[in-house]
Amino acid sequence: MAKLQVLDHPLIQHKLSLIRDEKTGSKEFRELVEEVAMLMAYEVTRDFPLQEVEVQTPVAVAKTKVISGRKVGLVPILRAGLGMVDGMLRLIPAAKVGHVGLYRDPETLSPVEYYCKLPSDIAERDLIVIDPMLATGGSASAAITFLKERGAKNIKLMCLIAAPEGIKAVQNAHADVDIFVAAVDECLNDHGYIIPGLGDAGDRLFGTK
Ligand code: URA
Repeated sequence: MAKLQVLDHPLIQHKLSLIRDEKTGSKEFRELVEEVAMLMAYEVTRDFPLQEVEVQTPVAVAKTKVISGRKVGLVPILRAGLGMVDGMLRLIPAAKVGHVGLYRDPETLSPVEYYCKLPSDIAERDLIVIDPMLATGGSASAAITFLKERGAKNIKLMCLIAAPEGIKAVQNAHADVDIFVAAVDECLNDHGYIIPGLGDAGDRLFGTK
């Protein structure tokens, strides 16, 4: 079973409270989401292997460590996932960024891919799928399936807030994908919104509503 990690660092939790607040406007919302994404990147990359190197300091040779040849791919799910990309790139500047866009077919209710542009070498990359709100888990599961169909082998999922239903759906569909969230909320309402959540992440990021 894939691991679920709730990142409970005080800075993440404090900023998430501000993000949830309906009085927080788009500019501040965007800045906070970016900051939380950066803090989460710190934990999501914790298992990256290190290798020893020697560095000549001004006074001596230091035996020290660097990340061992890791190639990272960030894959935001459009459109709300975009809000977390810049924060992650601040800590992982060499990461390549792919994009996946999905919509729900109104008749079958299945997620349909309408856009997909990925780095050519995704099979060799550690991919981090980014979606701020893990609600039913339908989009995240479908995006992960599309990535696997294109050769991806090593995938993590990173979200701000998850509903228990979404976590269960992704874990059932993708037992190999570890999930990182800042909070697990209570439930989904009849419209598929996470309760208490933060509302529509895309609308709040981009000021559409
Ligand atoms: N997507 C959102 O933006 N918010 C939710 O609460 C659920 C899905």
